[in-house]
Amino acid sequence: MGFFDRFFTKSTRLDKKADLSLIGVDMHSHFIPGIDDGAQTIEDSVNLLKAMSEFGYRKVITTPHIMSDFYQNNPEIILSGLAKVKEAIQQEGIAIEVEAAAEYYLDFDLEAKIDKGGLLTFGNNYLLFEVSYMNPPDILNQVIFKLATNGYRPVLAHPERYPFWYNDFEKYEEFKDKGVLLQLNINSLTGYYGGGAKKIAEQMIEKNMVDFIGSDCHRMDHIQVMKDAQCEKYLHQLIESGMLRNAAL
Ligand SMILES: [Fe+2]
Repeated sequence: MGFFDRFFTKSTRLDKKADLSLIGVDMHSHFIPGIDDGAQTIEDSVNLLKAMSEFGYRKVITTPHIMSDFYQNNPEIILSGLAKVKEAIQQEGIAIEVEAAAEYYLDFDLEAKIDKGGLLTFGNNYLLFEVSYMNPPDILNQVIFKLATNGYRPVLAHPERYPFWYNDFEKYEEFKDKGVLLQLNINSLTGYYGGGAKKIAEQMIEKNMVDFIGSDCHRMDHIQVMKDAQCEKYLHQLIESGMLRNAAL
């Protein structure tokens, strides 16, 4: 944001930091080493989890990418990585519970994965999924329907990060009507992903549309941005809204 924008835009900052321990459980992050674009080494995983514990989170459900092209992960790879992470944080004496699910990318292969069954979920059969940042997927509605009819409860990751819906806010209301839950990224509130993402995130909070908040933390600089986000007025508002489902996980 340039000087004049900053000067003329109403500040969304507060002097006090939001208490992230009230969120309780983070349900979107990339902390299993070497299997996606998040933590690369077990030391990275330990440092990131230590930082999450210092924020006051009681539990982290980490969600490596599963994509047919770039990150060909599966439940076996993720769960064996999880076991190593759990062992390492126990050795380091870091007091945080760690579980794993996945962030499924909606690609040509996701329907086949649903048919096969055994997808990684968290809480009450919640399934985290993301879509392309470039263009809306044609098969979105049929995949949502298929997930629902197979007993999964789809959670759309960072809905505020898809620019093709910025001028179509009703789309988000349609998702909610179809039973899709919405997960906001904490760092969107600082403008880290751009002004568009920040604006949509704030609108969703104003309209009480947010079901989960997640760190989507990949590396230490995301932790730094989260510290900054703690002073965002809308984060306080969201935590105080009573709408978040994180704490129940
Ligand atoms: Fe993610």
